[in-house]
Amino acid sequence: MPDAKQINPDDQDTRLLGQVFQRIEENPNHSIPFSEYMEMALYDPDLGYYSSPEARPIGRRGDFYTSVSVGETFGFLLGQRLQAEWEANFDQSSPFVVVEQGAHDGQLALDLFEGLRTSCSPLLEILNYRIVESRSPVRNWLRGRFREVGLSEKISIVDSLEAGRAEQGVFLSNELQDAFPVRRIRREDGEWREWQVGIKNGELAWVCRELPENLEVFAAAVGNGVEDGYTTEACTAALEWMSTASKLFDKGLWWIIDYGYGSDDYYAPHRKNGTLRCFRNHRATENPFESPGEIDITAHVNFTHLREAAEASGLKERRFTDQHHFLIEAARPWLLSMEGQPPQREMTSRMRQFQTLTHPAMMGQQFKVAEFSRGI
Ligand SMILES: C[S@@+](CC[C@H](N)C(=O)[O-])C[C@H]1O[C@@H](n2cnc3c(N)ncnc32)[C@H](O)[C@@H]1O
Repeated sequence: MPDAKQINPDDQDTRLLGQVFQRIEENPNHSIPFSEYMEMALYDPDLGYYSSPEARPIGRRGDFYTSVSVGETFGFLLGQRLQAEWEANFDQSSPFVVVEQGAHDGQLALDLFEGLRTSCSPLLEILNYRIVESRSPVRNWLRGRFREVGLSEKISIVDSLEAGRAEQGVFLSNELQDAFPVRRIRREDGEWREWQVGIKNGELAWVCRELPENLEVFAAAVGNGVEDGYTTEACTAALEWMSTASKLFDKGLWWIIDYGYGSDDYYAPHRKNGTLRCFRNHRATENPFESPGEIDITAHVNFTHLREAAEASGLKERRFTDQHHFLIEAARPWLLSMEGQPPQREMTSRMRQFQTLTHPAMMGQQFKVAEFSRGI
């Protein structure tokens, strides 16, 4: 990592770092919460890691894989599940909306539509898909991509969750909440403190600060029985987000797919360094200060906190399961339709992707699905 003396404001590689240093120096505490640093590193409009989906392919050519990047099977199966829910639980003569957030390059929407098309689903006619994206350059880029494939009538890009609101529909996100900026708390000298980002010897470094009141609830969830040095994440952003997302539909389902744990596991004493990870070229590191803007930074989702926030906002937990169980159920009609059929080449490729997505040792167990409902 370059130190303060090596920063050149005209140099792309160090410009973001220079802005971080400035933010820290301007703060009376000479430090900033980690969430502020993570927000800059991932979402700075020009220099953040996620500022351009085109420049950040996900999958083999990128820094990490997601279920979407495994291939079109994930979107196909979510489409099949959507079709089944729509038939069983929604008014089929009224408009039906899917809201997706964290869509990156929009690939999941494309796969889902293609799956509905190839299975001749009647949902295709009525479905109105809305992607939530607050950054205007990314919105324009996504619009261009959907225009090219003739889907701009069906898929719209809205700038906030509020703008996605509808009477009935399904909310969908894959690996959104693990990318929310987190704060960090740490046990030091038998007390809970916040671990913030400061400068030591001209470099970014962790510094301990007094625990603010809004993080006390996270410290209480861990308890005081853990040893000094125990560090974990506190995602206040996920709780605020859940409260807004819960207002999307009068009648609806919320599918939140991501990696994470319930509180018991999240705050287990052996997880003493927390869940913060960085990814570059498919390699994981624990140093988020290396090359801000060039590496992905992520933390596991606390599904207990998410459920509590959903229930406090009037949603019901419908089920909490893993991707293995969720996708196997979604795939049942497809698997039955293949019985007795001679194997076809595209089916072999889909089956291979299905195994990657559902095998417990691959993506099946690590990824969880939290499903909430209102009015169903
Ligand atoms: C780990 S990537 C997952 C991308 C995609 N869903 C997939 O599964 O391949 C996280 C995505 O969430 C987006 N994101 C994070 N916070 C967001 C927010 N508040 N609104 C919209 N997108 C957000 C990021 O820009 C990034 O594209």
